[in-house]
Amino acid sequence: MVKLQNVTKGIKGTILVKVEYFNPGNSTKDRMAIKMVEDAEKAGLLKPGGTIIEGTSGNTGMGLALAAVAKGYKCIFTMADKQSQEKINILKAVGAEVIVCPTNVEPDDPRSYYSVARKLNKEIPNSIYPNQYDNPSNARAHYETTGPEIWTQTGGNVTHYIATVGTGGSMCGTAKYLKEQNKKLITVGIDTYGSVFKKYKETGIFDRNEIYPYLTEGFGEDILPKNVDFDLIDQFIKVTDKDAAIMARRLSREEGLFVGWSSGSAMHGALEYARENLKEGDMMVVLLPDHGTRYLNKVYNDHWMKDHGFLEERTFSTAKDIVRGRNEKDGLFTVSRDARIGEVIKIMNREGIDQVPVVDGKEFVGSVGAAGLLEKIIENPSVKDNPVGNLMDKPMQFVAMDTTLDVLSSMLNRNNKALLIRDEQERVHIITQHDILKAMTF
Ligand SMILES: Cc1ncc(COP(=O)(O)O)c(C=O)c1O
Repeated sequence: MVKLQNVTKGIKGTILVKVEYFNPGNSTKDRMAIKMVEDAEKAGLLKPGGTIIEGTSGNTGMGLALAAVAKGYKCIFTMADKQSQEKINILKAVGAEVIVCPTNVEPDDPRSYYSVARKLNKEIPNSIYPNQYDNPSNARAHYETTGPEIWTQTGGNVTHYIATVGTGGSMCGTAKYLKEQNKKLITVGIDTYGSVFKKYKETGIFDRNEIYPYLTEGFGEDILPKNVDFDLIDQFIKVTDKDAAIMARRLSREEGLFVGWSSGSAMHGALEYARENLKEGDMMVVLLPDHGTRYLNKVYNDHWMKDHGFLEERTFSTAKDIVRGRNEKDGLFTVSRDARIGEVIKIMNREGIDQVPVVDGKEFVGSVGAAGLLEKIIENPSVKDNPVGNLMDKPMQFVAMDTTLDVLSSMLNRNNKALLIRDEQERVHIITQHDILKAMTF
């Protein structure tokens, strides 16, 4: 259990997280996997040399595979094709066979990972299909371990329990135990957009229109698993894939907890609830189901995040930000086209400026730079008595106020030493390379 330090700033009460990646398979599912295997052994369903077949998003598979290694069973797992490649590779690494099935088919479609697992179970002798969705050993494992641990670790002071809901085991087994200790304890289930739980809880309607593909892995469902006991979940909050991804990254960077994507969902939903409802003296516990390594190619990959439009928006500084910092009375310094070159050089020296727009009345007709003028005087000293209009360069280019610094910088070169912008009050400002450098570094 870890007390969060940073993402919880400004929230009343205490927020603790139960970090489940400390389990040997790096997820909360180890707890129920070994329990399902041992209960099957006790019931005489699984005998030496048997095969464990399960439809799993990866973590249950890992828990079952580790139990199988220890106890000498074979494992075959069916997985939806949206699951990360890391999860598939990890299961293979611990000796399991993995069959990848399409995500976007109905659960009772023969190609779905539920149906394929059931079919294999019928065909392979001495095999069990634990079916984590409906197997009571799943919630029971959390009733026997997660619940009592949270109760003891909080000294009986926990007032709120938050968890993502997939099979429902980690929410409902834990909630049952905690509510038995304190019937006032509030539970909040985290659901995702594209899943049926929230609407079902609120209306009793299983709405097929709520079902559509989503990216977050491990929770939210298009079925009602028996392990989800809606009476034990006081309310649901839905969290988007994007909010979850951003929060998972924040937990890693701001709390040093390298957690998985659904942990981001749990935390985002928990904070949303806490901001509105948590009071001084309350103690909220949030279950963080797994480890970040399984999402290195997704949530923890900047390219993937950008491709999905998930990276936090960066606000780019613009020309407006440069002139905003300027003093009201620092008006634009200009010279008339009739001014003598020698005179203009003196003024530029005095004012400490090296680029000046040349005007004819209100019109910007040209520009001069100190270096260019100096070059011309060295070549021919008598030009200093000529009007600047005879030797000026082309006028500076006007740019829009919202032009970003990178674009401004790309517009400045040997031939364009400064740019002009007109503000909302029709005042004209000059922007040089020096201004851009200053804006970029401060
Ligand atoms: C990463 C992840 N998050 C959340 C969950 C949801 O947990 P439960 O099935 O106990 O509801 C799972 C379950 O597979 C999971 O693997």
